[in-house]
Amino acid sequence: MTQRAEPQITLFSPENIHGVAALARQCFTTPWSEEIYRRELENPQSVGFVCTDGGNVIGMIHCNFVLDELTLNTLCVAENYRRQGIARRLWAAVCGMMQGVCTVCYLEVRESNLAARTLYESLGFRQNGYRPRYYSEPEEAAVLMEKRLGTETKGA
Ligand SMILES: CC(C)(COP(=O)(O)OP(=O)(O)OC[C@H]1O[C@@H](n2cnc3c(N)ncnc32)[C@H](O)[C@@H]1OP(=O)(O)O)[C@@H](O)C(=O)NCCC(=O)NCCS
Repeated sequence: MTQRAEPQITLFSPENIHGVAALARQCFTTPWSEEIYRRELENPQSVGFVCTDGGNVIGMIHCNFVLDELTLNTLCVAENYRRQGIARRLWAAVCGMMQGVCTVCYLEVRESNLAARTLYESLGFRQNGYRPRYYSEPEEAAVLMEKRLGTETKGA
């Protein structure tokens, strides 16, 4: 019997735009459009990776950076592939690429998103702020988090 190949992590490239936008629509109530992802690909202050299985995009991470500050904008994994360490692998790919460039990473996450908050805490992020009514559809507070880079924990 042939063994199934593990999903691959690669740099976000133009051929992934359609799959990335489709995944974002599955995972978020206010997803970015293909046009936004296309612009981000051309942005030199942007870094992203995708996870593909058999050519299908099943995970993605997208960040922006200014000087030594990284901002994590999007991290998502298709429902059938969750709890297999893919988000951790995507974050590790960004860390590898930004090593020596960025010293801190910031993000914001919906207060009720316990899966993401637990993930970020396990990666070493700590809460550094709170914004009531920050998100819409549905309205919800944002928890702001920060991590000093170069202090990676399990899998990062
Ligand atoms: C959050 C999300 C990206 C996690 O992706 P994932 O590939 O399943 O995460 P991983 O398998 O790498 O999990 C790593 C760790 O995160 C934590 N975690 C992930 N999902 C969790 C859940 N549903 N409940 C509790 N902890 C969870 C665990 O600590 C997990 O480690 P463990 O499996 O060894 O216990 C995924 O659930 C998702 O795409 N959600 C919808 C989009 C989203 O909310 N993105 C974040 C917006 S800021």
